Amino acid sequence: MENTIGIIAGSLRKDSFSKKIANAILKMQPTGFTFEVIALDDLPVYNQDFDDHNSVPDSYTEFRKKIKEMEGIIFITPEHNRSIPAVLKNAIDIGSRPAGKSVWNDKPAAVFSNSPGNLSAFGANHHLRQCLVFLNMPTMQQPEVYIPNASKLFNDQGDFNESSEKDFIQNAVTSYVKWFNRLKKE
Ligand code: FNR
Repeated sequence: MENTIGIIAGSLRKDSFSKKIANAILKMQPTGFTFEVIALDDLPVYNQDFDDHNSVPDSYTEFRKKIKEMEGIIFITPEHNRSIPAVLKNAIDIGSRPAGKSVWNDKPAAVFSNSPGNLSAFGANHHLRQCLVFLNMPTMQQPEVYIPNASKLFNDQGDFNESSEKDFIQNAVTSYVKWFNRLKKE
C-alpha cells in the first residue's frame, strides 16, 4: 500500500524558496510512497470561535481532512524573526483543534529549514520542533536538515544548480523514508 506523505512549505510567497524545495522533493518520491504538497494559502487566521460556534470555514475542514489522510509530514520552514512564519504556525494551530481532535497526532515528521543566508533558519527549525513535541509527532532527529543559500539553489526551470545540494536534500528524504518505514514496522 502507498504511504502518503504531505509536504508543507511555510510560505505564501509566489516565488518562495521553501515552495521550490517542496516541489523538488515531490520529484524525489520513492517507490511505495506518494508525496503531496499541501498549500496553506486559503487558511484564515485561527479563531476558536469558529470551532466553538459551529462556523468552521470550509478551508479548515478541507485542510484538516487532508492532513488526516497523510501518514507523515515533511515541513519545509523558512524563518521569520528567528521563529517559524505565522502562516505555518497558523496551519499547525488549525490542525491541532478542536481540543482532543488534532489531526497531527502520531504522524512521523521531518523538519527541513532554509534561508537565503548562511544560518539556514536554525531558530525556526527548533521552534517548530517544540510544537511537534506537544503535537505528539515523532520527528526525525538525524540528519538535521539546514539548507543555506536558498536563493541560489535552483535555476529558472526549477532544477538544482549544484548536484551536491540536490544530493544533500535527496539524502535527507531517503533518511526520512527509511526512518518512517522503521517506525511503521514497530
Ligand atoms: C525574514 N527573513 C529572515 N531570514 C532569516 O534567515 N532569519 C530571520 O529571522 C528572518 N526574518 C524575517 C522576517 C520577516 C517578517 C520576513 C518577511 C523575512 C528573510 C527570509 O528568510 C526570506 O524572506 C525568505 O525568502 C522567506 O522564505 P520563502 O518565502 O522564500 O520560502
